[in-house]
Amino acid sequence: MSVTFTARATRVISRCRQLAACTEVPGETTRPFLVPSMHQVHGLVRNWMEAAGMTVHVDAMGNIRGLYPATTPEAPRLILASHLDTVPNAGPFDGVLGVVVAVTLIEQLHGQPLPYAIEVIGFSEEEGVRYAKPFLGSLAVVGKITREILALTDNEGITIEQALLDFNLDPTQLPDAILPQNTFAYLELHIEQGPVLESEDLPLGIVDRIAGQTRAQLIFTGQANHAGTTPMHLRHDAMAAAAEWITAVEDYASSHQPLVATVGKVETLPGATNVIPGKVTASLDVRHADDAIRKTAAASILQCAKTAAEKRGVQLTINPQLDHPAVPLNSRLITMLQEAAAHAGHRSRTITSGAGHDAMILAPVIPSAMLFLRSPAGLSHHRDENVLPQDVEAAIATAMEFLARLRDDKTKDTHA
Ligand code: GLV
Ligand code: MN
Ligand code: MN
Repeated sequence: MSVTFTARATRVISRCRQLAACTEVPGETTRPFLVPSMHQVHGLVRNWMEAAGMTVHVDAMGNIRGLYPATTPEAPRLILASHLDTVPNAGPFDGVLGVVVAVTLIEQLHGQPLPYAIEVIGFSEEEGVRYAKPFLGSLAVVGKITREILALTDNEGITIEQALLDFNLDPTQLPDAILPQNTFAYLELHIEQGPVLESEDLPLGIVDRIAGQTRAQLIFTGQANHAGTTPMHLRHDAMAAAAEWITAVEDYASSHQPLVATVGKVETLPGATNVIPGKVTASLDVRHADDAIRKTAAASILQCAKTAAEKRGVQLTINPQLDHPAVPLNSRLITMLQEAAAHAGHRSRTITSGAGHDAMILAPVIPSAMLFLRSPAGLSHHRDENVLPQDVEAAIATAMEFLARLRDDKTKDTHA
């Protein structure tokens, strides 16, 4: 493979690493929704956006938004976006790369307006880490933040509404965050976060569909008791029930691939060596591109939890958190991206995303597309997450060609 990349690709990577240094935990990149280090991120992104000719503001949900004007004020609007929050101990590229590349695309226009405006958005929240509710930033721009959502609390009991106020935002201004009617398309660039492109030696993927997700919290409530005096047959061990269930989750998903199911978070009370666990709280995440298969799987997996709990006289509470259908992306824009990649001289394939993305929220409302960049070693949600400069260059060249094709695309004019 011949390796060519440019200063602009190298700069994208160094900017992503600069943003990765904005963190709540020194030595890691840990930046959930609206934590103080997001102010630092906004400072850097704002500077880059303004230098590229954008007018910048932070909306009432904490999304940073830069508008690059068109040749005429009423022109239709394209959105280029991804998210700026992270999972705990994250890598530097998940979400952030899409925002930084979007700013780079605007820089490449050198102040020359297009017949459509471009709004670059850095979403404040996509991962669902702080409130167990993902996509808060993108839900705001499609007008789907409800009173119930604002009342959700984090581990410290802080509501989303209070978190907005603490970040100097005004929740009463949320209606102003909604995208204008003349928004005609949405494009998100993102690392693949999986091994498929690398295994086929491809720099780029064009997403056809994003898998649906089920998320839930399970609480196993048994009886805490003395670990030395309570015979095994008289115990109600919440951890033993949870453990049996967790391996059942793995067994079920392994025998129903490409279904994936994960228990990623477990908390035990009281959490002492010499106490039988009285309470275990665990997370569940189930994904598949086919909603019927995912729903059947989720039901079976929850039944396994009931069985494991009943066997031990342990109570089970299931709190559903997310039931998001799979989302197809726009076929016209998919073709346009394929043609743009080929024209720019880069090989690509269509790919279904197992990861969730803000595009899931935008696609039902606005024609949407996603361009993936190969993930070295298929690694993501991990501090060693990486991207190759030559792939960043391929993505920039493809996206610039996509912007040129949109200029001549007549369907956008119906949104003017
Ligand atoms: C987001 O990264 C998700 O797919 O969970
Ligand atoms: Mn992401
Ligand atoms: Mn992520």
